[in-house]
Amino acid sequence: MIKKIVFFCLIYAASLAAQDLKYLEYDTDFIPPAEYKARRDSLMKEIGENAVAVFYSAPERVRNGDQDYPYHQNDNFYYLTGFPEPNAILFLIPSGTTVHDPSDSSKEMMTREILFVQPREPLRERWTGRRYGPEGAMALRGVTYALTNDKFKTAFMRILFSSHAKRLYVPPFSSDFGGEIKELMQPVQNIVDRSPAWHSTVEVRDPSPLVYSMRVVKSPEEIALIRKAAHISAVAHNQAMMSCEPEMHEYDLQALYLYVFHRMGAEDIPYPCIVGSAENSVILHYETDRREIHDGDLVLADCAAEYHNYASDVTRTYPVNGTFTEPQKQIYQIVLDAQTACIAMMKPGASWRNIQAKAEEVITDGLFKLGIIKEKSRKEMFRFFMHGVGHPVGLNVHDAGRDTLVAGMVMTAEPGIYIAEGSEGVDPKYFNIGVRLEDDILVTSSGHEILSNEAPREIKDVEALMKKKGIGNQPLQ
Ligand code: GLY
Ligand code: MN
Ligand code: MN
Repeated sequence: MIKKIVFFCLIYAASLAAQDLKYLEYDTDFIPPAEYKARRDSLMKEIGENAVAVFYSAPERVRNGDQDYPYHQNDNFYYLTGFPEPNAILFLIPSGTTVHDPSDSSKEMMTREILFVQPREPLRERWTGRRYGPEGAMALRGVTYALTNDKFKTAFMRILFSSHAKRLYVPPFSSDFGGEIKELMQPVQNIVDRSPAWHSTVEVRDPSPLVYSMRVVKSPEEIALIRKAAHISAVAHNQAMMSCEPEMHEYDLQALYLYVFHRMGAEDIPYPCIVGSAENSVILHYETDRREIHDGDLVLADCAAEYHNYASDVTRTYPVNGTFTEPQKQIYQIVLDAQTACIAMMKPGASWRNIQAKAEEVITDGLFKLGIIKEKSRKEMFRFFMHGVGHPVGLNVHDAGRDTLVAGMVMTAEPGIYIAEGSEGVDPKYFNIGVRLEDDILVTSSGHEILSNEAPREIKDVEALMKKKGIGNQPLQ
């Protein structure tokens, strides 16, 4: 029996080796491998020749039983490699190391980078999908040199000591780090654990801040992916507004968003869909999405697509029956005015602190005029607008950023007002009104561009759009 399995493996392995790599990547709009290479080169320049760096893929996480959560690559690892598989390790050696030439093992070559990846395993691949293997990683992801991950331990120890590196850059191990990648990283963990000891010759440093600072300004290729994600999100919001009707459930709208995201090619969502109606619209990150929505309710939908690992983050708030009530209009208009004022300030050199202050000022004034707050204080305002006015977007929905804006940053602008039932001193006509408007804004050299602009925000435009019929309110057979 064992003989048979070995025989089968050999035949199957031969057919895999011959298999064209084209089945690994169907999309043609990935960021080109040369850009990832340039990022690795630029990081190596930063850390210098006396250092080496190790980055590792995100661990696989068990959902329950024998099921894992859908796998999502670590952001910094993906930023440097574009490599989507688990159990992979990137080893950067700025001073270079000698390795066997993969195309002719009798020859040697110099490399400054080695990507360790899962080996091809015919039987496992039949169950869980094709793998790149070292050949695929080199051919498709453009890494100079790749090996199977079982070679990491020996290579790491040899190169670390032969390079006489003074510094080892490795991201800290989180408390929930586990699984196969943890075992693969054990030799590095040993060095890290030993480093504070008096005899340690290698200083351990966290490279994450260096990579985060590289991620602040997006390249044209990254912007193209965020633009696509934001476009998909805007189309989904339009369809949701056109489809929304009383007696639907929050999950009907959630399903519609997810349908449009996937129909338009998005692989994932950067955060769970937030579809909160009436009393749920005042919960900032409501993710239950189970309530039946009724005539007269307002729906706050913070739903967005992720495309090729790049996030968008878009929120619209709309009346279930297509027409805002007077109190809903009043609150909505304050939020819209705050958002418009903030977006107008977004250009190179602007301080995010000042943009936050502007949102708070407009909302404080608006709430005071309506008598919802009785004094113009930050403390009073904070009862109804209790979050930041925005954040950078990129590989992470809450991405790397800085206070002073520069061209190439992508930021959200997302003021909100949330008036919970029973809020003290507030006219009950405003209860259960939660409004947030959120768009993704690219800072350009001359100002800004709203990437999610296709979904309307003005009251009259939202009401006009909601008169049209969307794809999501047909009864299912
Ligand atoms: N959707 C998460 C956020 O707005 O930050
Ligand atoms: Mn956001
Ligand atoms: Mn959001």
